[in-house]
Amino acid sequence: MTGGSGYIGAHLVRLLLARGDTVAVVDDLVGGSSDRIEGARIFQMDIAESEAITKLSSILTEEKIETVVHLAARKKIDESIERPLWYFQQNVGGMANLLAAMQEAAVASLVFSSTAAVYAESGVPVIEESPTVPLNPYGQSKLVGEWMARAMSSSRSFKSTCLRYFNVAGAQSPELGDSAVTNLIPMVIERILEGKPPLIFGDDYSTPDGTCVRDFVHVQDVAEAHLVAIDNLSTSMRGNSIYNLGTGKGTSVRQVVDAVLKISGSALVPEVSSRRIGDIPKVIASVEKIRAELGWKSRFDLDDIVSSAWEAQQRV
Ligand SMILES: NC(=O)c1ccc[n+]([C@@H]2O[C@H](COP(=O)([O-])OP(=O)(O)OC[C@H]3O[C@@H](n4cnc5c(N)ncnc54)[C@H](O)[C@@H]3O)[C@@H](O)[C@H]2O)c1
Repeated sequence: MTGGSGYIGAHLVRLLLARGDTVAVVDDLVGGSSDRIEGARIFQMDIAESEAITKLSSILTEEKIETVVHLAARKKIDESIERPLWYFQQNVGGMANLLAAMQEAAVASLVFSSTAAVYAESGVPVIEESPTVPLNPYGQSKLVGEWMARAMSSSRSFKSTCLRYFNVAGAQSPELGDSAVTNLIPMVIERILEGKPPLIFGDDYSTPDGTCVRDFVHVQDVAEAHLVAIDNLSTSMRGNSIYNLGTGKGTSVRQVVDAVLKISGSALVPEVSSRRIGDIPKVIASVEKIRAELGWKSRFDLDDIVSSAWEAQQRV
């Protein structure tokens, strides 16, 4: 697994170890921590570096890897706008190195972490065939990753599954929280812990309460979906598949902020500021395809997400 010491990866590593699988993690440990994944074999390296193909290929061979889960990526949208080339070097370059190493080591099964950021404005709920027009270099680098996985799958016995995660949040246990405060729930919690009012960016959208609507999915649900995807690859006849990974339910920013305020017992009043450039009013996953083809659906709700995120962030 690449990126296995990070937020989502650590959840998945724990599930794999718990069911008795052997796990090798390749990670530069910049965004993650090895403490979270005791029991996995860890190889610290940057998969986008020039020597990466040889190193990755030997790891794949020596560790007798059957399936690769590729989570390692830089993921900050703002940073991707400031440093587009670096994002392509890291996310697309890293993916190219990984695929070359897999080819060299004859490993032909891949689960790739993609994102709802590949979609632009589209119908609600968003289906996998909805237009992909990513609005920033981060989303673009992920879409290129999907194309690479699909291209590999069209010409050989290579099989790949791309999972487009929606808004991942929460934690299975407090030490596994999201340490990057770049998503809504960690941002709201941080403001409350600092005694500052949570911010709402725009309340004049064409949505029921005027704030943006998103599909929040518990990180443990996301990790469990990977187990299903990994197992499915071993029996599937499909070359490449793409699935939305969400709950199919929309929650507004105001509902999230209220839920966090409630769990924290805070009397702070949210502050409404102007819209952020690039925010679209409503993005909700259609989860029909993943339900029908993989038999997966989410188990956790917003209260589980918010309460577990709150508990986890107190530890940071
Ligand atoms: N967190 C979300 O809400 C979300 C939503 C959609 C998609 N994703 C995707 O899921 C994946 C995992 O996200 P996360 O939230 O766990 O991120 P994370 O930053 O917590 O974990 C990613 C790990 O990969 C490492 N990494 C990144 N680039 C690397 C490289 N070139 N070489 C080696 N290691 C590298 C990081 O240092 C980190 O340890 C990413 O691909 C991300 O794009 C995340």
